[in-house]
Amino acid sequence: MKSAFILGTRPEIIKLSPLIRAMLKAGSPFEIIHTNQHYLPELDKVFFEQLELPPPDYNLGVGHGSHGVQLGRMLQGLDPVLSSQRPDVVFVQGDTNSVLAGALMAHRLSIPVAHVEAGLRSYDRRMPEETNRILADRLSDYLLAPTEKAAGILLAEGFDRERIHVTGNTVVDALQQAAGLTGKLPPVRERWRVDPGNYILVTLHRPENVDSPGTLAGLADGLGRVGRELGMPLVFPVHPRTALRLEESGIALPESVIRLGPLDFLAFVQLEQNSRLVITDSGGVQEEACILGVPCVTARISTERPETVEVGANMVAGTGAGEILAAALEMVRRPTGWGNPFGDGQAGRRIIEIVAA
Ligand code: UD1
Ligand code: UDP
Repeated sequence: MKSAFILGTRPEIIKLSPLIRAMLKAGSPFEIIHTNQHYLPELDKVFFEQLELPPPDYNLGVGHGSHGVQLGRMLQGLDPVLSSQRPDVVFVQGDTNSVLAGALMAHRLSIPVAHVEAGLRSYDRRMPEETNRILADRLSDYLLAPTEKAAGILLAEGFDRERIHVTGNTVVDALQQAAGLTGKLPPVRERWRVDPGNYILVTLHRPENVDSPGTLAGLADGLGRVGRELGMPLVFPVHPRTALRLEESGIALPESVIRLGPLDFLAFVQLEQNSRLVITDSGGVQEEACILGVPCVTARISTERPETVEVGANMVAGTGAGEILAAALEMVRRPTGWGNPFGDGQAGRRIIEIVAA
């Protein structure tokens, strides 16, 4: 059986890495088709290298553009590659534009689609990711749900039970591997001049947060207030989208923020492991904080990761400065020690077995 992985952004590379590495180990044939939605080395190449993945077999060079341009270029690029290579199955992961284009083109060419991380819903239709994941699920033959909850959502939406498989989330596999390696890095005190357990890790990149100057200014204010109240610095590796919006709007980050560029996976996981609190609008970072036992404040009005909230690891705060501060004060008081709802770190192996059966 020949597989193809279609991926395009940082989180897809990270979360597909356990499957790709398992196939490499087993000697199973596969190809990697990279849309290049993310093209900067620090969002792309660094992950291939650090996660020891072979370079992509195809690079569609999609790059920067509006969603219409991005999706159009992806479909145009995928059509000839999938038509000539005819893999037996196409894997896509998550909810990006690359996932939607990959699932649509493969399905249109009658190639079975396996959707890793199926069944997530934020019920916020403003988010491009919400429509991407709904459509990708509809186009998929294998709905690889990370949790029972996600599987329940798919069942309630009328998907055939036989197409749904509960696998755990591959982020656990990736994180377990990374967490075992961060001990070899220089300690965070040496590298970033912060004390373990005494800083807050921040990521923000959602368009609904950073593309609106009013919301972005409120978030920046909220970070400043959290830093002051808790007496801790905030470490903020800034996504390129956010960097651009900060520059365009002239919004300054508070003095307590240590601003960094996007980090490689090991450096980022090390900062997660040692942080007192995480403030984020990222999907993957909500999961990772929960798995690593670090309290999380989600700077959004919804989450498609309700499992994190249910175990007590996460609070969906909203995006106002006062809301972020109140949630941060509440979350640092909460006892930790919740269970990991995302599986046992064997999701990659399980998924390959399901699809190969
Ligand atoms: C995309 C995904 C989002 C995911 C995120 C992971 C969609 C709709 N969005 O968001 O779901 O959470 O990736 O990080 O698929 N840029 C660069 N260099 C890059 C990539 C992006 O400078 O390598 C800047 C450009 O200004 C670009 C902007 O970021 O216009 C947005 O990039 P895009 O790929 O459209 O979406 P992301 O915000 O990265
Ligand atoms: N991440 C990283 N470096 C960073 C920020 C995040 O390696 O500077 C990793 C993080 O560990 C997680 C993933 O990127 O695995 C999350 O990606 P992102 O927040 O871009 O996307 P989302 O998960 O929201 O789709």
